[in-house]
Amino acid sequence: MPGDFKVTPWEVSGEVDYDRLVRDFGTSPIDDEILERFRQYTGDLHFMLRRKIFFSHRDLGWILDRYAAGENFFLYTGRGPSGHTHLGHLIPWMFTKHLQEKFGADLYFQMTDDEKFFHDPVLSQVETLGFSYENALDVIALGFDPAKTFIFSDIEYIKTLYKIAIEVAKHVTYSTAKAVFGFDNSINIGMIFFPALQAAPSFLPSVLKKKNIPCLIPAAIDQDNYWRGIARDVAPKLGFYKPAQIHSKFMPGLGKGGKMSASQPETAIFTTDDPEVAEKKIRNSFTGGRDTIAEQKKFGANPDICPIYHYYEFMLEQDDKKLKTIYEDCKGGRLMCGDDKMHLISKLKPFLKEHQRKREEARKMIDKFMVKD
Ligand code: TRP
Repeated sequence: MPGDFKVTPWEVSGEVDYDRLVRDFGTSPIDDEILERFRQYTGDLHFMLRRKIFFSHRDLGWILDRYAAGENFFLYTGRGPSGHTHLGHLIPWMFTKHLQEKFGADLYFQMTDDEKFFHDPVLSQVETLGFSYENALDVIALGFDPAKTFIFSDIEYIKTLYKIAIEVAKHVTYSTAKAVFGFDNSINIGMIFFPALQAAPSFLPSVLKKKNIPCLIPAAIDQDNYWRGIARDVAPKLGFYKPAQIHSKFMPGLGKGGKMSASQPETAIFTTDDPEVAEKKIRNSFTGGRDTIAEQKKFGANPDICPIYHYYEFMLEQDDKKLKTIYEDCKGGRLMCGDDKMHLISKLKPFLKEHQRKREEARKMIDKFMVKD
């Protein structure tokens, strides 16, 4: 059915209507008023806010009120380590880095290797734990402050997390878990308990420091079930603040429609891809172009449905004026897809090379970031 789409923690498909998500999930749109408040603390707005790549939130005004009153918040985000990191994963992490820098906030970063083990039919524990470490290199490569960043694997840090997770779990019934996550009777029981573990880090620093600390979660909107359905509901029952959220859109894949997904490797650029391989993927990408150059010159192309355009928008062209020129030249039939792809490749390859260099350097620093108990 046209207009049909799905957004859950395990599946994103169809053409996502983000305004509808704001209504259905009961969040608030990122509007001019909240942006103005943000600007007071961060100066020039981050391009992901200017472009509404972060488009929705809960309680962001409250987080800023607390901050203004001298109460620092911490950041919480995470990753399900089922494979290598792709560019789409970097979007919330890059923004999280910006928030850490501007607000001096601690970051707690969860690697849900337990969940990926439960969820994936073939991955072993050893493999998902291994990807926790591989993915952590990508996080570290983005330049987080080692003194303020705590990355943990669920499998390894369970002793600390479990004490919080069981407090959460006690307040969540099976019927709630089923309603929030759509579990059916074939789901393994690990998955039923897991939401308590993803909620737990929302309260982790408050437990560790024995005082209530406000929490802000930057994440793609597909993770919202955990906050809407579990963490925010349970928080007051345990005497904690409800975690606040800021939600991002999904970076599209290189195919026609749909988000970048590791299950379609030809349509996703992995941070570990050889730059030449990445170039090939871009060359083979779907575009919003016309069938012939003559038609494109005459009628123009459609940047709104074009992954190449969205790669500039989400990451590779942070200058608004230049982005606008690309958009208008594409629409006006002055920019052909081949040239557009070559230009994107000329930005992507140095980005990847630099990220890969930092990623290798991160191997030496990993012990400073990973917390153990
Ligand atoms: N479940 C998330 C995933 O599969 C990983 C995750 C854990 C997460 N905690 C988080 C993501 C907090 C965002 C914010 O990717």
